[in-house]
Amino acid sequence: MGAGERVAWVTGAAGALGDAVVRRLAAAGWRGLASGHREPPSPPPEWIADAGDLTVEEVATNAAARALAAFGRLDLAVCAAGAWEGGKEADKADPDQLERMWRINVESAWRCARAAARAMGEGGEEVGGRAIVLVAAASALNRPAPAGAAAYRAAKAAVASLAESLAVELGRRGIAVVALAPGVLDTPDNRRAMPRADRSAWVPLERAAEVIAFLATPAGAVLTGNVLTLDGRALAGGA
Ligand SMILES: NC(=O)c1ccc[n+]([C@@H]2O[C@H](COP(=O)([O-])OP(=O)(O)OC[C@H]3O[C@@H](n4cnc5c(N)ncnc54)[C@H](OP(=O)(O)O)[C@@H]3O)[C@@H](O)[C@H]2O)c1
Repeated sequence: MGAGERVAWVTGAAGALGDAVVRRLAAAGWRGLASGHREPPSPPPEWIADAGDLTVEEVATNAAARALAAFGRLDLAVCAAGAWEGGKEADKADPDQLERMWRINVESAWRCARAAARAMGEGGEEVGGRAIVLVAAASALNRPAPAGAAAYRAAKAAVASLAESLAVELGRRGIAVVALAPGVLDTPDNRRAMPRADRSAWVPLERAAEVIAFLATPAGAVLTGNVLTLDGRALAGGA
């Protein structure tokens, strides 16, 4: 099957990683749905955009159905919607922080993955044809845990756990499921928030997008069930 026939649904597409993934896939000939909380402002040609709160079941269901109606198939879902909140120790943080982190990170991934799985159907295609990518965080795996991010870390650990379970369930239908766990992505927001940080270990958005594109290939499908850390720290001289 040519890339031109392949269809993706990317959430968080008005954000840094989601936008990079949409552009990487579009450059390779993919079509699809770029969905955001707010509507992604300039989707590539052959892509459609929509907006909605992905913690709401109907919003996710309708988005996946829209992709299916517009393009007739769904091969890849990248559930990149999410958010970070932290900076204070748990007993000093806003009491509702855990609920917010859970909703934005875990519920959005849960609803995106479920809607995508239904839209992808029961199977019958070659293994490696279809994939769902969730986005956790390296800080959810790192030990010792970073201070000041207890709610975020717990939520992202749950996202990683979700991917492991879904990989088993959907593997029977030939759908690969992987969680990416980025360290620090080289985003405009991070540059603004950490202007004096050493960026040598930050992961460029284009590279993260490249990894996601690979996960939607037959070779990438053998990574199903894994939680993959994206982190430049071990690379001498930076990423
Ligand atoms: N940046 C990093 O260094 C880093 C590190 C580890 C993991 N991650 C994860 O990687 C993913 C992408 O990060 P990013 O840097 O691209 O973040 P970003 O630029 O903030 O993009 C995230 C997007 O998710 C959307 N979103 C949030 N809540 C939503 C909801 N309820 N419904 C629909 N959309 C919602 C946001 O829309 P609004 O802004 O309009 O609400 C935003 O456009 C996130 O899951 C993040 O947690 C990022």
